[in-house]
Amino acid sequence: MKFPSKLLDKLQERQLSSSLRSLSAQTDLIDFSSNDYLGFSKSEQLFDLVMNKLKTSQAQNGSTGSRLLSGNFSFHEALESKLAEFFHTEGALLFNSGYDANIGLLASVPQREDRVFYDEFSHASIRDGIRLSHAKAFGFRHNDLEDLQQKITSTEREGEIYVIVEAVYSMDGDMAPLKELAHLSEIAGFKLIVDEAHSTGVYGEKGQGMIVEQELEPYVFARIHTFGKALGCHGAAVTGDHSLIQYLVNFSRPFIYTTAMPLHTAVTIQFAIEMLSDTKERKILQHNITYFKEMIAHFKLQDIFINSASPIQSAVIASPSRVKEVTTKLKEQNFDAKPILSPTVPLGQERIRFCVHSYNTYDEIQEILFLLSTFV
Ligand SMILES: Cc1ncc(COP(=O)(O)O)c(C=O)c1O
Repeated sequence: MKFPSKLLDKLQERQLSSSLRSLSAQTDLIDFSSNDYLGFSKSEQLFDLVMNKLKTSQAQNGSTGSRLLSGNFSFHEALESKLAEFFHTEGALLFNSGYDANIGLLASVPQREDRVFYDEFSHASIRDGIRLSHAKAFGFRHNDLEDLQQKITSTEREGEIYVIVEAVYSMDGDMAPLKELAHLSEIAGFKLIVDEAHSTGVYGEKGQGMIVEQELEPYVFARIHTFGKALGCHGAAVTGDHSLIQYLVNFSRPFIYTTAMPLHTAVTIQFAIEMLSDTKERKILQHNITYFKEMIAHFKLQDIFINSASPIQSAVIASPSRVKEVTTKLKEQNFDAKPILSPTVPLGQERIRFCVHSYNTYDEIQEILFLLSTFV
C-alpha cells in the first residue's frame, strides 16, 4: 500500500536534519541512560518478592476490564491506600503509565473558563493533557516565577487557575522552586500540580518525592508519581484529596476507558515502595551524583553541562549530528548515554542526557566524563 507522501516528506525532513528516530534494542553497555536510578528494575530481591507473592495468589493474568466494570480488584484498592499513606495524601488513583496519568488529570480537571499555566520545559504528557482540555493554556519561562506572576495577572480571570511544574525536569535535571511556588499559590490563588516522575524514589526520607521532603503537602492540589523510573517497574498514580480522586474516577477518560493495571504490576509497585524504606541505594546515588559533578569540574566540562543536583545531568552540544557522533563514540567504548534531539528539546538545545545511578562506580563515572572531554 502506498504510504501518504506528506508523511514520507516529514520522515525525510527528519532524516535531513539528522533527527530521525529509530528503535534499537537495549544492550548490556554501562548504563548512563536509563531512568532506573536505584537499580530496582534488575533487583533480584524485588523479583523474588513478587514471584513468591504471585505463586501464593489466585491466578490472575489480566484484570479483564476497566476498573469501573470487571477490572477492579482488592489489590488495586489496597495499593492505592498504601500509596495515599506513603505520599501523605487523602487519596491515590492508579494509572497504567505516567503519560496516562498526566493526560487523565489535565484533560479532565481544567474547565473551559479556567486558565492553565505550565513551565515551558514541561514533559510532552503534560502538554498533551492540557491540549485535550478546553481551558486556555499559557507557557511561562522555565522556573521564572516573575514571568509566571506577570502572566497570571495579565490574564483575564474567570474560573480556576492551575499551575503545573515538574519537581525534577526530565531533560535538564534541575528542580522547580517548590517552596516559592507553594507560597505564591496562596498569594495568587492558584492550584499547584506537581509532576514527581523523576523525584519519586529519589528524594524524601523514604523516597516519597520532593513535596513530602519539603513538607509542602497542604499547598499542592495534585501530584503525579510514576513507577517506571526509580521504582524500576511501571505505572503511575495521581494523588490528592478524596474529591479529586472521585472526580477522576468519574471524568478521567484514560482511567475509565482502559483495562485496569494487572496484578503483577500492582504487586511489583507495592514491594518496590516497601523496598524504598532501605535508604542504602538512595545514599549511594547521592554520592555518585556528587562525584559526577566533581568530575565535570575536574575535566572542565562545566560550560556544556546544565547545572543540576539530580541524577539527570545533560551536556548541551547543540548539533544533532555532533550529539549522535559523540554518543556513538561513547558506545564504542562500552558506555550508554542517549542523544536527545529536537523536538524533545528545543532546536539548538540538542544534548547528551546522562543519568547517574546507584550502581554506577566511581571508575565508570570518571571514565565516561574523561571520554566526553576528549570527544567534545
Ligand atoms: C516528567 C515526566 N512526566 C511523565 C512521564 C511519563 O511517565 P511514564 O514513562 O510512566 O509514562 C515522564 C516520562 O519520561 C516524565 O519525564
